[in-house]
Amino acid sequence: MKKISIFFVFVFMGAMQFTAIAQATADERAQYIASAKESNARCISCHGHKKFTLTDEAGNTVLRKLYQELFIDTVAYYSSNHYAFGCTDCHSSEYEAFPHALALKFEVKPGCMDCHEGDEAVKKFKFELINEEFLKSMHSSRHNEEFSCWSCHSPHYYKINARDENKTISSTIQYDNAICLSCHGNTQKYQQMNDTILPNLISSHDWLPNQVSHFKSVRCIECHANLSDSVLVQHEILSKDKAIRGCKECHSRDSRLTHSLYRFQRSELRKLGFANSALTDSQFVVGANRNMVLEIAFLFVLVLVFTGIGIHSYFRKKIKTHHE
Ligand code: HEC
Ligand code: HEC
Ligand code: HEC
Ligand code: HEC
Ligand code: HEC
Ligand code: HEC
Ligand code: HEC
Repeated sequence: MKKISIFFVFVFMGAMQFTAIAQATADERAQYIASAKESNARCISCHGHKKFTLTDEAGNTVLRKLYQELFIDTVAYYSSNHYAFGCTDCHSSEYEAFPHALALKFEVKPGCMDCHEGDEAVKKFKFELINEEFLKSMHSSRHNEEFSCWSCHSPHYYKINARDENKTISSTIQYDNAICLSCHGNTQKYQQMNDTILPNLISSHDWLPNQVSHFKSVRCIECHANLSDSVLVQHEILSKDKAIRGCKECHSRDSRLTHSLYRFQRSELRKLGFANSALTDSQFVVGANRNMVLEIAFLFVLVLVFTGIGIHSYFRKKIKTHHE
């Protein structure tokens, strides 16, 4: 019963919080963030350090270590998407007391969908579709008890990357792959889900030449997620027998990559005109036989042609309106 009531409080708070933070004026927002920071200080006094001081009723103190998983990196926290949140927006305020009550171990935490489902402010992310894809993924179907959005999106540090124009493609690749490697390169976290031996990724991918350079220039999801054009980041991770192995899937004109990683950059470019290095980037990757100098020269000509057409039609239109 307690579990359920805590859950509803969270859902309610989440929804409230959402409109409260998202629609606040700049002043209200600054105020909210300042007060959240102030109340977070109590939690951070322990969770923001590798050790903490414990005091008993008689006033004795003892220095204790804080286990790694309980540690919150405050710099990363305050630069995440949810930086404006107080710890107790997602966790019970009963955590202010220490030792934390046993009942809190049964705390049901809010999920992405509790706050973001049907939410206009984040419509472009298509949370509902992402959720559908995730539920079909093999992680979710094999481990639906323990696998959630939080398994990949750290509640304390998550920050959008692929959509962020200021991020380079290579830093996005690194960020996204680090998510997968947080389990597939970490026995401890992997075995918390599946108590078998962690497969060695290097030998599972030994059919792939230039493995190191591939892992730096493609994302795991490029080969492991079901391709769909309806979301920017595909979330349906398939079982290993359905993974991409064919070189042509990427090393060809109609590369998979233009439907995934480079899709957003491309549509952004259309908006911006052609003067953006990401386009040269994607031409470079996708083209089977490439020559940087030629490609850039080609782009330059393309820009000239389009500018030419632009000017031409502008004057045509002008002349036409003149004649009317
Ligand atoms: C005096 C130090 C201290 C303070 C202050 C403190 N914590 Fe903790 N917290 C711990 C320690 C130690 C643990 C691990 C032992 C335990 O679970 O009780 C822990 C565990 C937790 C857990 C994990 C529980 C679980 O097992 O799932 C959460 C969540 C948590 N704290 C949140 C908070 C929040 C939120 C605040 C502030 C409102 C806070 N803590 C304040 C020391 C502290
Ligand atoms: C956006 C919601 C949200 C906010 C804000 C938040 N947490 Fe959490 N926290 C979670 C969720 C969800 C989990 C459980 C993660 C999981 O299941 O993998 C969690 C887990 C924890 C844990 C246990 C670590 C673990 O891996 O089990 C601690 C400790 C903790 N939070 C402390 C804090 C502190 C301190 C703050 C404020 C600085 C904070 N949290 C802010 C959602 C949040
Ligand atoms: C407790 C409610 C809550 C939960 C749970 C939650 N969010 Fe949020 N999220 C918000 C609010 C509120 C904002 C707006 C914050 C702001 O305006 O500073 C936000 C912002 C975001 C943004 C930034 C949107 C933008 O336009 O820049 C992304 C992306 C996001 N959340 C993704 C997620 C994901 C993914 C999860 C789950 C892993 C999640 N959120 C869980 C409430 C929540
Ligand atoms: C197996 C790992 C994994 C799981 C589970 C997962 N995600 Fe993601 N998600 C990713 C990766 C990787 C990205 C790309 C991050 C980036 O570059 O911004 C991403 C990106 C996103 C984005 C940003 C998409 C955009 O258009 O910019 C949202 C929103 C999101 N996830 C929501 C969710 C929700 C909701 C769930 C649970 C239903 C979920 N994710 C579960 C790995 C995961
Ligand atoms: C929270 C830990 C965790 C994260 C993060 C994670 N995985 Fe997994 N993954 C697992 C576990 C556990 C299994 C084993 C599932 C089983 O067979 O029981 C697995 C299995 C797999 C498999 C093999 C499926 C098969 O058929 O045996 C692939 C492929 C895979 N993951 C890809 C990914 C990709 C890509 C990402 C990042 C987008 C990712 N994983 C992120 C835990 C994780
Ligand atoms: C170029 C495509 C490609 C890329 C990139 C790729 N994989 Fe794979 N992966 C495959 C294929 C194909 C298999 C199936 C191999 C087999 O069954 O022999 C596989 C197998 C796996 C397995 C199953 C291992 C086993 O032995 O059970 C996991 C887990 C996995 N990949 C995770 C990842 C992660 C994590 C990344 C990113 C760091 C990644 N993959 C990048 C194509 C790829
Ligand atoms: C998921 C997409 C994808 C798949 C599948 C794929 N590649 Fe690649 N490959 C890339 C990308 C991206 C690069 C980096 C291109 C660049 O840097 O310009 C690359 C680079 C290379 C390179 C050059 C490496 C270097 O260091 O310069 C070779 C050789 C190569 N791939 C061969 C293959 C072969 C052979 C296969 C099939 C067994 C294959 N690739 C499958 C995407 C892929």
